[in-house]
Amino acid sequence: MLAIEYTEHGGPEVLHLSDAAAEPTVGPGEVRIAVKASSVNPVDWKIVKGRPDMPVAFPAIPGRDAAGVVESVGEGVTGWSIGDEVVTYGHEGRGVRSGGYAELMTVPADALGPKPRSLTWDEAGALPCAGLTAYQVLRLAGVGEGDTVMVHAAAGGVGHLAVQIARALGAGRVIGTASAPNHEFLRGLRAEPVTYGDGLVDQVRALAPQGVDVVVDLVGGGVADQTMAVLAPEGRHASITDRQIVERGGHYLQVAANRADFEALGELFDAGSVKMVLAAVFDLADAAQAFRLSQTRHGRGKIAIHVSA
Ligand SMILES: NC(=O)c1ccc[n+]([C@@H]2O[C@H](COP(=O)([O-])OP(=O)(O)OC[C@H]3O[C@@H](n4cnc5c(N)ncnc54)[C@H](OP(=O)(O)O)[C@@H]3O)[C@@H](O)[C@H]2O)c1
Repeated sequence: MLAIEYTEHGGPEVLHLSDAAAEPTVGPGEVRIAVKASSVNPVDWKIVKGRPDMPVAFPAIPGRDAAGVVESVGEGVTGWSIGDEVVTYGHEGRGVRSGGYAELMTVPADALGPKPRSLTWDEAGALPCAGLTAYQVLRLAGVGEGDTVMVHAAAGGVGHLAVQIARALGAGRVIGTASAPNHEFLRGLRAEPVTYGDGLVDQVRALAPQGVDVVVDLVGGGVADQTMAVLAPEGRHASITDRQIVERGGHYLQVAANRADFEALGELFDAGSVKMVLAAVFDLADAAQAFRLSQTRHGRGKIAIHVSA
């Protein structure tokens, strides 16, 4: 099958297109998907670079996200049939042996959700990791009706969905950090932009003198002090990048796929409450270029990988 493979750890240059990659088999409890699209999440290039806690077997296929059509169903799988249109986030620890930058991907059946009807295949391929993370971190932080929410790194893959999902979960106001070129983009998503770095706390206090009810940190790198400084007395907070946040009363989220959350997310997209913004769509053969764009860390929305028609 056609796939992006790598046989050593390194930068985007180690990725190469193969037309003879081994097809992943389908074991009990697993489903094989004919992949239409995938995306780039920072974790994808971190794994290719080499992370001791996320080992791979060479030749390895990158990409954890996928949208596609169920092509084969393993023994014992219930609830999914050949021909179903699905999305999946296949991450380590769930027995995942194959990646999404390939014509076929095998994942545990419980890591699947239905493809939102309103999304194109490329948009759906960009949904799993970023969408689930945004939804789960906001739920973990306890966003409720009328809350003022602040999102650190609001313009990125997770961030641009988080600001919209926060509203859909009832937030009355959403404040988002970004560099100046992304401020208009955030206003278009009904978020109030502020510039990250020195002076952030003063900007947020000027917008919300009574304090912010919920803060979600999608960037790390020492923003915890700013989070604590802007929170209202009974405020809640969570991070997807800073495990130490639990020592300061926050929650740390490690995203995990499950059907119920995929269904809830899909309803938000299909109701028009949330839209997917794609910064770029790359052909499978250009996956290295897609990695390079992600590595600038200044994207706007998601980077999709178009795998097959
Ligand atoms: N724990 C988990 O389960 C989990 C799940 C998903 C992602 N993550 C992690 O979460 C992070 C974000 O993921 P992503 O997919 O959203 O990444 P991304 O799309 O690459 O994020 C890029 C965004 O970050 C913004 N940014 C860069 N530096 C910033 C700063 N100092 N302050 C505020 N914003 C800044 C950029 O805004 P400007 O262009 O305006 O600078 C850009 O819009 C990554 O580190 C990823 O590995 C963790």
